[in-house]
Amino acid sequence: MPRVQLHDKTFEPFIPADELERSIDAVATELNRTYAGKRPLFLGVLNGAYFFAAELVKRITVECEITFVKVASYHGTQSSGQVAQLLGLNERLNGRHVVVLEDIVDTGNTMEHILALLKDHHPASIAVATMLFKPDVFKKDFPIDHVALRIPNAFVVGSGLDHDGLGRNLPGIYRIVP
Ligand code: IMP
Repeated sequence: MPRVQLHDKTFEPFIPADELERSIDAVATELNRTYAGKRPLFLGVLNGAYFFAAELVKRITVECEITFVKVASYHGTQSSGQVAQLLGLNERLNGRHVVVLEDIVDTGNTMEHILALLKDHHPASIAVATMLFKPDVFKKDFPIDHVALRIPNAFVVGSGLDHDGLGRNLPGIYRIVP
């Protein structure tokens, strides 16, 4: 795999597609074991998680449902911090076993907002499954339950992850060249 140029940045091959797929296999095995008989609702976070969601659910053998949401964040007028809203959530989550699917968990800020919003819907359980996780950056105290691959703190693209709109289509994962 050669280097690629996306806007002003250069990226080099980092994780080959077959290694990424094997790690997604392992997450699917965990989930099949954990959710047997529970009919989980997989909730993919757009845009980035479309690839992980598709690769994961084709390996899920238990009865399940899948849907997608978008996170819109804006500065509220009443508060000094960021306010997040989930767009496109039409399913009733009350009493359901929800598994949030993310492309990457970095600081965990985004996931913290998502989990807070989902808890308002009173699901029976909430778990997080992410394709990539940067443990050195993550500073939150909630668990990241299912991780396909742990990576060092570097900006990456490919398999759904983008740099300013580009790179989502690249197979495998590419890392920024400093
Ligand atoms: P967090 O809120 O810091 O955990 O970051 C989560 C979001 O930031 C992800 O859903 C991505 O959209 C984006 N992000 C974080 N790290 C990367 C990266 O290395 N490449 C591309 N996007 C990233």
